[in-house]
Amino acid sequence: MSATTPLDFDHVELLIGAVQTAEEANAKAVRNTVLSPRFYTTDFKALDKLDVSPVRAEWDAMMKEYEGDNNHDHFQRDAAFADEVRTLMPQLSPEMRQEFLDFLISSLTSEFSGCILYNEIRKNVSNPDIKQLMTYMARDESRHAGFINQSLKDFELGIDLGSLKRTKAYTFFKPKYIYYATYLSEKIGYARYITIFRQLERHPDKRFHPIFRWFERWCNDEFRHGESFALLMRAHPELLRGLNRWWIRFFILAVYATMYVRDHTRPLLHQTMGFESTDYDYTVFRITSEIARQVFPIEVDIDHPTFRACMTRLVELSVGHARAKERGGLFGALGQASCAIRAVWTFARLYFVPVKENALPAQVRVQAAW
Ligand SMILES: [Fe+2]
Ligand SMILES: [Fe+2]
Repeated sequence: MSATTPLDFDHVELLIGAVQTAEEANAKAVRNTVLSPRFYTTDFKALDKLDVSPVRAEWDAMMKEYEGDNNHDHFQRDAAFADEVRTLMPQLSPEMRQEFLDFLISSLTSEFSGCILYNEIRKNVSNPDIKQLMTYMARDESRHAGFINQSLKDFELGIDLGSLKRTKAYTFFKPKYIYYATYLSEKIGYARYITIFRQLERHPDKRFHPIFRWFERWCNDEFRHGESFALLMRAHPELLRGLNRWWIRFFILAVYATMYVRDHTRPLLHQTMGFESTDYDYTVFRITSEIARQVFPIEVDIDHPTFRACMTRLVELSVGHARAKERGGLFGALGQASCAIRAVWTFARLYFVPVKENALPAQVRVQAAW
């Protein structure tokens, strides 16, 4: 563990909460915290008015790829899957097992969040371009969520997706926030999966679960989903100008900070793969920032010393908040409030770290070459 990872196992347990039963797994998926994936709803009428004609040629080429569906047979387990699970899982320590379960549950929740949002948009719009796109993306996310759920079922911790859909709270986001946040989460999803895949390709002895063998073709779906939002935003350049630049800056930092804090609750997961959480996250930031040059007019400076110091501070404050919550009572409440205020202040400092200007390329789409 590096000096920038101020967590030990007690802190990790505090932050992620142990899961032993299917009820606990389902409760964890339903619960909304600052760090957990959420479900979203939006203004469907505004989405119905989107016009992709300024990017028609690139759009049509992308729709052909969706139609070709090169992953239609990918999300099925092979003969070796069950054997690998049987051999590898008993080798994990109980702490590591908890971190892996936390990873599966949060990944499933965010895959399913995409599935629900895209499906709801599909049902509520009549614009044929948007309807078709949402149909394809919901198809992909439903496969992804289902595939992760099979692995949770191996632990008898399957999530009841129907009940999750009915019981988890929905957050309303204006359409432009949906474009910024969803673009980022798709591209970050790609960067996370491909970074893990490449690492385990180099070190197959560290592949402690067969699901990681699926990540390469899987992350190409996420990459393409991100491309779709890049095209939608580039077709409406007003989304990328003026005050919206400040919103873009906000969303990049919010998404990066949430991921950073969340990942630092799972140091063992990364260690087992031969990573260190901080290095893994900066690799993911770097890939995401490089890709996002296709659409965002600004880029946050991930190498700025204040950026790095603020990220570390947010992890410390998150641990402090969890400790105060466990302590309870008046002092616990005061401790929580103090950590929350300092986290807002730290995020404000992060927000004013100077950004880099980026001139947008004429061709929007990029290749998934990482
Ligand atoms: Fe997905
Ligand atoms: Fe996706």
